[in-house]
Amino acid sequence: METTVLSTQDTKAVALGADLIRTGGLVAFPTETVYGLGADGLDGAAVDRIFEAKGRPNDNPLILHVAQKEDAFRLWAGEPPFARQLMDTFWPGPLTLIYYRSKIVPDEVTASLDTVAVRMPDNEAARALIAAAGAPIAAPSANLSGKPSPTTAQHVLQDMSGRIPLILDGGPCHCGVESTVLSLVGTPTILRPGAITKEMLAAVIGEVSLAHSILKPLEAGEKAASPGMKYRHYAPNAQVLVAVGEAEAAAARLSALYDEWTAQGKRVAIAATAEALPFYGDRRTALMGSRRDPATLCRRLFSLLRELDGDSDVILCEGVGTEGAGLAFMNRLLRSAGFRVEYL
Ligand code: TXA
Ligand code: MG
Repeated sequence: METTVLSTQDTKAVALGADLIRTGGLVAFPTETVYGLGADGLDGAAVDRIFEAKGRPNDNPLILHVAQKEDAFRLWAGEPPFARQLMDTFWPGPLTLIYYRSKIVPDEVTASLDTVAVRMPDNEAARALIAAAGAPIAAPSANLSGKPSPTTAQHVLQDMSGRIPLILDGGPCHCGVESTVLSLVGTPTILRPGAITKEMLAAVIGEVSLAHSILKPLEAGEKAASPGMKYRHYAPNAQVLVAVGEAEAAAARLSALYDEWTAQGKRVAIAATAEALPFYGDRRTALMGSRRDPATLCRRLFSLLRELDGDSDVILCEGVGTEGAGLAFMNRLLRSAGFRVEYL
C-alpha cells in the first residue's frame, strides 16, 4: 500500500480522509497533542485495523474523538459527574474523560471494558475530519506500538509507511505528549498525566487522585488502572538513561556516564536542559529547553528521542521536578528509559 501525505491546508485532503474513514479505512491526522491513527469509532472491524497497523495488543483500549461536546454524551451511559464543568473549561483540549460506556460503543474500542475514553481535540483539521466522517473517530497515537508518539507527519511516515493510505500533515503538534486521561468513575483519578495538570483539574473540581503507576513500574500482580500503563512504551531503539537532580549535579553524573559509554565504543548523546548545558563541555548534547518551562520539555521530548535515536546507542537525559507539566514529562521519560533512573 502506498502512503500519501497531504497538507491539512488542502481542503480536498480532509474530505478525502473522511471518505476513507467512512469506508472503514485508516487515516493519520494531527491533534494538539500527538498525531492520531483514526478509524470509524462505531465500526468494530475498522477499529480492528488500527490494532493491526500499529502492532498494538488488543487489550489496550482506544480514545474516541468527537467534534462537538454534545457528541460525547451519546457515547457514555448517562452524564459523568463533573463532566460539564470539565468540558466547559478544557474542551476542546488535551483532556480525555473516562466513564461507563453506552451501547453504541463497540467492544473493539474499549477492549471489552465497561468504560470508554472520550476527548475533543483542539485542532481544527481534526474536528473537520471527525465532522465530515459523521462518526466519532477512534484513534491511538500514530506510532508503531512501543515507539515514541509522533509529533510530526514525518514521524508518522517513519512508522506507518506502507501500512496506511493517508497521513494528513498539520505541522508539528503543540503539546508533544498525549492528553491527560482522567477517570470519572469514583473519585476523579488521573490515569495518565498531560498538559492539563492535576493542579488545573483540582482548581475546577476539587479532589483529584493520581494512579499509582504514573512514576513507577507496576508491581508484580498489580492491576493497571489503565491498560496502556503495563506496556513498554515510548522507547527508541537506543537505551535511555535518566538522572534526576539539580542541574550541575545531573550534568556531572551524566558526563561521567557519557565518558564511560564512549570509552566502550558506544555512540552517546545527552538530552540537556538549558540550565545544565554549560556543564557538559564539548560532549554531544541536544537542548530540550528550560527546567522552568516543563511544557516545552514535553513538546520536545518525543521528537528529540526520535532525532537522537538514528545515530546513538545510548541517550542520557536529565529528569526534572514533577510539578505542573513536569509530571507528564517524567511519566513519558521514565517509560522511554524502561525506568532506568538515578535520583541524585
Ligand atoms: O492525546 C491523545 O490522547 C492521543 C491523541 C491521538 O488523541 N491519543 C492517545 O491514544 O494517546 P493512546 O491509545 O495512545 O492512549 C490511550 C490511553 C491508553 O493508555 C489506554 O490504556 C487508556 O488511554 N484508555 C483508553 N480507554 C480506557 C478505559 N476505558 N479505561 C482506562 N484506560 C483507558
Ligand atoms: Mg500511544
